[in-house]
Amino acid sequence: MRKPFIAGNWKMNTNLAEGLALVKAMLGDLEKLKSVETVLCPPFVSLQPIMDLVRGSSIYLGAQNVYFKESGAYTGEVSPRMIAGLCKYVILGHSERRQYFLETDAVVNAKVKAVLATGLAPILCVGETLEQNEAGKTGEVLTRQVRDGLKDIAVEKSVVIAYEPIWAIGTGRAATGAQAGQTIGLIRHTIAELWGGENADEIRILYGGSVTGSNVTEFIKETQIDGALVGGASLKAADFVEIVRLTEKIKQQS
Ligand code: PGA
Repeated sequence: MRKPFIAGNWKMNTNLAEGLALVKAMLGDLEKLKSVETVLCPPFVSLQPIMDLVRGSSIYLGAQNVYFKESGAYTGEVSPRMIAGLCKYVILGHSERRQYFLETDAVVNAKVKAVLATGLAPILCVGETLEQNEAGKTGEVLTRQVRDGLKDIAVEKSVVIAYEPIWAIGTGRAATGAQAGQTIGLIRHTIAELWGGENADEIRILYGGSVTGSNVTEFIKETQIDGALVGGASLKAADFVEIVRLTEKIKQQS
């Protein structure tokens, strides 16, 4: 049984006061939804104070990125060991990092390794562009991103994968549940080739891209989909709580 998983990716939003207010507005409700693993991913600078707020609760924190070196002359970067006591997860390979910060699969792979070596768990994001999708290249692109992202890494069941089609991120144009379920089945197949079928069956794979309270059910109903990586809707307490609540409800029914 894979525990359902919902992560909120706040991206470059919220200052400290706003972040604390957001967490305070939803913590009590999220705490009642314990059968879902709920992860908040605020900006780096808010991790410590938000950790102080959620400590002792069922809520985990994640970072949105990290550098692959442990320490040294890398002005402006944050290493896994700096955030090790604060979060459990790190989002890696998000399409915004690939697009705006030119992160390649090799860089993402180095980051996945560094994160695992520090005892943290990566949320490895993969996804195709609209152009690749329309050219029928989705399978090829995702297989490469998963294989290269996990290259030379032995079975690690703490790894979470997020399938986020780039055309669905922040556009209000989500994939359909059936589309996402089928594609995630394919990703699981790629993981099975790497790590064996039994292990692949234990890896959590999320859908991300314009998930809201109104469409989350469609995704969560799919047996292949274990949860969601939520951007925009994770910045509104009521919306995010609703997504977690519906996830708990649907997965308990299935
Ligand atoms: P969105 O972002 O929910 O705003 O589409 C998802 C993500 O980028 O993780």
